[in-house]
Amino acid sequence: MLSKKMQDALNQQVNAEYFSSYLYLSMAAYFQAENLNGMATWMKKQSQEELMHALKIFDYIDSRGGKVTLTAIDAPETAWKSPLAVFEATCKHEAHVTSLIHNLVNLAKAEKDHATESFLIWFVNEQVEEEDTAQQIVAKLKLVKDAPSGIFLMDRELGMRA
Ligand SMILES: [Fe+2]
Ligand SMILES: [Fe+2]
Repeated sequence: MLSKKMQDALNQQVNAEYFSSYLYLSMAAYFQAENLNGMATWMKKQSQEELMHALKIFDYIDSRGGKVTLTAIDAPETAWKSPLAVFEATCKHEAHVTSLIHNLVNLAKAEKDHATESFLIWFVNEQVEEEDTAQQIVAKLKLVKDAPSGIFLMDRELGMRA
């Protein structure tokens, strides 16, 4: 059985994952409006992944006899000044989520909740990958600067995300 404190913290993380999904969907809308459909595709896939993260925690709370409580999702930003700005915001957001996951691990450790600590390892590893991926895209967009041909190629590359 989860402690009330652990349960509440995991419920907050469900909300944070839904917010992430909503943020990336908002970024997809921005890209589609800019005719960058490849980047929009990448963001829609990212948005879907965040929904999977939310559901993973949702099911975990339930499997430990906890109560899932859904709360209001904040409105995401809706405008950015460039593709680089979008991916920089993505990096910043993922770093924030990493800190949230690490706080959950710290709480699980403090409570000697080994099952939750073990469950969270998947998220710790996932965050390493997500931060790395976003940073690589930022690095490439910095090389491209505002060159239209570079943006065109990046859009095509990101659109091929499986
Ligand atoms: Fe996530
Ligand atoms: Fe993420």
